[in-house]
Amino acid sequence: MNFADSEVVASILIKAGHRIVDSLDDADCVLINTCAIRDNAEQRVRHRVRELQAQQQRHRLHIGVLGCMAERLQSQLMVEEENVSFVMGPDTYRRLPEVLENLTASANSKFEIQNSKFSTETYADIQPVRLGGNGISAYISIMRGCQNYCSYCVVPYTRGRERSRDPQTIVDEARTLCEQGYKEVTLLGQNVNSYRWKDEAGQTVGFPELMERVALVSPQLRVRFATSHPKDLSDELLQVMARHDNICRCIHLPVQSGNNRMLKLMNRHYTVEWYLDRVAAIRRYLPDCSITTDVIAGFCSETEEEHQDTLRLFRQVGYDYAYMFKYSLRPDTYAAKHLTDDIPDEVKTRRLEEIIALQGEIALENNRREVGRTYEVLVEGTSRRSKEQLFGRNSQNKVLVFDRGNAKPGDYVQVKVTDCTAATLLGELVIG
Ligand code: 5AD
Ligand code: SF4
Repeated sequence: MNFADSEVVASILIKAGHRIVDSLDDADCVLINTCAIRDNAEQRVRHRVRELQAQQQRHRLHIGVLGCMAERLQSQLMVEEENVSFVMGPDTYRRLPEVLENLTASANSKFEIQNSKFSTETYADIQPVRLGGNGISAYISIMRGCQNYCSYCVVPYTRGRERSRDPQTIVDEARTLCEQGYKEVTLLGQNVNSYRWKDEAGQTVGFPELMERVALVSPQLRVRFATSHPKDLSDELLQVMARHDNICRCIHLPVQSGNNRMLKLMNRHYTVEWYLDRVAAIRRYLPDCSITTDVIAGFCSETEEEHQDTLRLFRQVGYDYAYMFKYSLRPDTYAAKHLTDDIPDEVKTRRLEEIIALQGEIALENNRREVGRTYEVLVEGTSRRSKEQLFGRNSQNKVLVFDRGNAKPGDYVQVKVTDCTAATLLGELVIG
């Protein structure tokens, strides 16, 4: 999401006559787009800001902090990090040119612009400038904000209320990317399944219909999406996916915990039974679909048995990939105000390591089953291991590495899986 936002920021600035430069030495201003989801994300930002201090001593360099951390801390951040000149929340980027102008006008000024509580900003009319991409896959932001208020999560406070973007602007952006040679788009939102747009005629467009409209742009354009909230994943969406081969067979379905008491404390609005029913529905409509997840270890009052429930659920679902985190207290959330962060750090770490180890085994088992199968792969680039090899992904979002033959980035090729690790499938081109 931040990557997509940075592309909007670049577009706004270029339109106002600024330039993106490759080297710090050439920059008058550095913008740091920040995440506030866990404390370590914020610590990394502070580290980066301090590193830039040396550069500031060499030449005049303004530092602006954008994104969720700017919104969360506002002027406090400029007090704590003295070398920061301005902070701006995620819905305020249209005002960037004005802030930069004022900075140049008055040397020692500081600016703070926070989101309006009732922001309706979707940046729908802004064609993002694709930054550092591979010219093959791009993100399209389809909605902003979140109002699910999971009890541990800071996002509703930093990104504001949920709002969807006009579907026509989304379809147009996908079409433009396709015409420019892009082969894959990923539709982004905190909870894409609650995408909803009402047009002038009072007709509502939901996420399944939006997906279908984007899928119809071109059979050569792959469509991915993230993230799905289990409470809102509908059969209708799965049916749309089943109808279109170019909608990728991969669903990111964050579970967070495998225990019903924890899920209730987390305010997730589903049970383990509901979640497993959604997994069964995915398998029914899309037998070849991969499923990935997010999980939090050591949330407030989690017992050893409840942690075991998470491990059991991981075995039951057999995830292809998981983003795994230790619980990190976020100020102002429900959990910070009403629950106790009572699991010692070493216990959180040990539980997290157990989940990571188990997920490693599961991923390897899943990958072993892939050996012998042939997949259509979108080539993305040269493999890190060898110049003679390329890498790309199949529809399930698994990375395949294979000898390059005559293939090049941007091609669709058939690859037969011959071997694997827990993270990668190794294969060979199937010619003809
Ligand atoms: N601590 C740890 N992980 C968190 N996430 C969100 N908030 C927190 C927190 N306070 C994780 C969730 C979410 C992912 C984007 O980040 O798993 O799905
Ligand atoms: Fe945070 Fe929950 Fe919204 Fe995801 S759905 S952004 S975890 S509040």
